[in-house]
Amino acid sequence: MRDDVHHCGTTTGARAAWTPLRLRDVTLPNRVWMSPMCQYSAEGDGTPTDWHLAHYGARAAGGLGLVTVECTAVAPDMRTTVRDLGLWNDQQIAGHRRLTEMITTIGSVPAVQLGVAGRKSSHGVPWDNAGTRSAIPPDEGGWQPLAPSPVPFAGLAVPAEMSSADGERLLDDLERAARAAHRAGYQLLELHGANGYLFHEFLSPLANHRTDEWGGDLRARMRFPLAMVRALRAGWPEEKPLAVRIPAEDLLDGGLTVEDMTVVAAGLSACGVDLIDLSSGALVPEARRLSEPLHNAQYGPLFRASGAAIAASGEISSAAHLDEAVPALVDAVFVGRALLRDPYWALRAKDSSPAESWPRQYRRAF
Ligand SMILES: Cc1cc2nc3c(=O)[nH]c(=O)nc-3n(C[C@H](O)[C@H](O)[C@H](O)COP(=O)(O)O)c2cc1C
Repeated sequence: MRDDVHHCGTTTGARAAWTPLRLRDVTLPNRVWMSPMCQYSAEGDGTPTDWHLAHYGARAAGGLGLVTVECTAVAPDMRTTVRDLGLWNDQQIAGHRRLTEMITTIGSVPAVQLGVAGRKSSHGVPWDNAGTRSAIPPDEGGWQPLAPSPVPFAGLAVPAEMSSADGERLLDDLERAARAAHRAGYQLLELHGANGYLFHEFLSPLANHRTDEWGGDLRARMRFPLAMVRALRAGWPEEKPLAVRIPAEDLLDGGLTVEDMTVVAAGLSACGVDLIDLSSGALVPEARRLSEPLHNAQYGPLFRASGAAIAASGEISSAAHLDEAVPALVDAVFVGRALLRDPYWALRAKDSSPAESWPRQYRRAF
């Protein structure tokens, strides 16, 4: 069956990135995927715009096995900015449906990343004066962020400590957003559980100082994040795969270690998560920043025991990186900035003849 869905001439180890991967009932035609990247280009209430159609359309024609639509909020107060995408009303679902139909028709598989920003909520867009490190207060169109503990992220507002009623509402929002994502036509759903968003804040002792059942040792700090995943699974069809982007570690003394995160990954897999997408750091500005090629993929083998498939992003920007990463380190890769620079990056990295891999509409260019 493999040869039916991939375009390159061989299936030797060196070309493993271009072979299909099946997760539940969904077959991804290859393992080179677009990483979620916020465009801050939604209309006022979080509905996709023509920018999103053009942006994701170009990447859908670019030979990727999966096109992941950027971090999309499950509720208005869980957005990072007023320009984030959302999935909490019918107008948004209709807008996302335009994206999924277009991505599917043009030849890729549509995924969406759901986001719950926690204390990293209510800030400016990167190109505005305020920027992402400045809080937008409620009287200027922002809102009160919620987090496990009232510990702010540098430059942003002090979040309110989440009550159990807030937690119940969020679990309902997550389940509803998963149903909305299915109605919109997405084939894979990812929860953003890294980069210091709420899921990550609950897990890390650097952000979770609670003394109730949602704080304490690692097992206690995992309780609410695992409840978030169960809520998504309840709203997401059995036959479709669920992914979670997690930090492989906090990269700061006193924070989450790789050993902690392998325990979390096993817990996620037991809750019905099919794919662990590895990131790292970003909980606090002081966390170390990794920048070498394949920096998150290198953690991959440590997470295999979770039983889930493993993917990672982070400085994967050449054909050699793909061959190094898949299958030795991870089962699939998410590519980010290389695809902002060039929507056809994957077609070039494939290194096969244009006649085999480029859209037929473009072949006279070669
Ligand atoms: C403009 C931009 C927006 C991003 N938005 C998101 C996002 O919505 N969700 C997320 O998990 N990561 C986000 N990221 C991180 C990327 O998905 C990716 O993990 C990171 O850039 C590392 O991969 P790369 O080296 O291939 O770019 C964003 C990165 C960029 C450059």
